[in-house]
Amino acid sequence: MSLADAVTHFPVVIHHNPDCGTSRNVLAIITAAGYTPVVIDYLREGWTRPQLLALFAAAGLTAREALRETKSPAAELGLLDPTVSDNALIAAMIAHPILVNRPFVATPKGVKLCRPDSATVLDLLDRLPPGPFHKEDGSLLIDADGKRVWSHTPLATRRLRAPHRVMLTIRPARAADLAEITAIYSHAVVNGTASYEYDAPGLAEMTSRFEAIVGARFPYIVAQDEGRVLGYAYASHFRTRPAYRFMVEDSIYISAEAQGQGIGTLLLGELLARSEALGFRQMIAVIGDAAVNLASARLHAAMGFVECGRIKGSGFKFGRWCDTLMMQRALNGGAETLPEA
Ligand SMILES: CC(C)(COP(=O)(O)OP(=O)(O)OC[C@H]1O[C@@H](n2cnc3c(N)ncnc32)[C@H](O)[C@@H]1OP(=O)(O)O)[C@@H](O)C(=O)NCCC(=O)NCCS
Repeated sequence: MSLADAVTHFPVVIHHNPDCGTSRNVLAIITAAGYTPVVIDYLREGWTRPQLLALFAAAGLTAREALRETKSPAAELGLLDPTVSDNALIAAMIAHPILVNRPFVATPKGVKLCRPDSATVLDLLDRLPPGPFHKEDGSLLIDADGKRVWSHTPLATRRLRAPHRVMLTIRPARAADLAEITAIYSHAVVNGTASYEYDAPGLAEMTSRFEAIVGARFPYIVAQDEGRVLGYAYASHFRTRPAYRFMVEDSIYISAEAQGQGIGTLLLGELLARSEALGFRQMIAVIGDAAVNLASARLHAAMGFVECGRIKGSGFKFGRWCDTLMMQRALNGGAETLPEA
C-alpha cells in the first residue's frame, strides 16, 4: 500500500521525539503493524497554539497533564509550580517544544499520549503487529497466535498520572479488604445507577458474595495505595447454565475520590489477564444506565470491548428508566477454536 493509500484509509500520525525510548518503541509498534505513519519531529518543527489545544482536547488532557517534567527545562522555568496556568504552560511549550510529553499519536480511533506504556498505541490501531512481538523490556506484547497480551504482572506496581501520583498495588482481595469494598460499593449503589440495587448490601452480605466468587475460583482483585483500597474488580458467572461456563461478567468499582486516575484501567487489565489465565473465552460488561455511566463504556472500549447489545428500559431507578449497554471482549481467541474440555 502506498503512503497515500495508508493515509486515506487509516492515517496514523505520531508526534515523535527520536531521543526518547518510549517514542521510538511506539513508532516501532506502529510500523510493525504495517502502517506508514506521518512522523512529526516536533523538536525540529515546533508547536503552534491551535495545534496543542486541539491535541490536548482530543487526548482529554490538560496542558499540565501533558507537560514533560523530567529531562526538560520545566523545573528551571518554574513550571512545576501548580499555580502556573495552562495558558502559560502552552506558551512555554511553544518556546521550548521539548516541554510537551511524548509521543502523542492520532488515528481515526482517537488521540492518546502513548506513555508510560508503549502498548497504549494498540488501542488506536485497527490491526496488531504480527506475533510474537516483544516490547522493549522483553515482555510479550502480541503472542504467537497474534493476540494482544495484557499485563501479566500479578502484583502490578506502576506510577499513575496526576493528580495523585501514587504507587499503586493490584493484588488479590482479602477478607480484611471487605469493609472498604463494602463502602465503595455502597456509595455507588446509593448515589449512582451503575448498579441496579436499591439498597446497599452490608458487610455480611458482601462477605458472603466475596466467598462465593472466590470459592468458585473467579479472580477478585483490589487496587491498594498506602494501605487504602481505592477500587476492586472481579469476574463471575454471567449465567450459571453450563453452556455459559467459558464466559464471565466483570464488575469494577473505584472509590469516588479515586476515579479518573487510571485505576480502573489497571484493575481491568489485570482482571483480563487473570481471566485469560483461567481459560475463559469471553468477558462481558453489563453497563447499567449507559447514557449516564460513560466512564464505564470508555474504560471497556479502551480495553478492547465492543458493543454487543443494548436493552432499552432495562432498569428503573431514581424515578426514571435506564438502558443497559452490553460490551464483550474475547479472551484466549474467543470462539476461534474449540475448548479443550
Ligand atoms: C467506571 C469506572 C470503573 C472507571 O474507572 P476509572 O478509574 O475512573 O477510569 P480510568 O481513569 O481508568 O479511565 C478509563 C476511561 O474512562 C474515561 N473516564 C474516566 N472518568 C470519566 C468520566 N467521568 N466521564 C467520561 N469518561 C471518563 C477515561 O478518560 C478513560 O478513557 P480513555 O482511555 O478513552 O481516555 C469508575 O469510574 C467507577 O467506579 N464508576 C462508578 C461505578 C461504575 O460505573 N462501575 C462500572 C460497572 S460496569
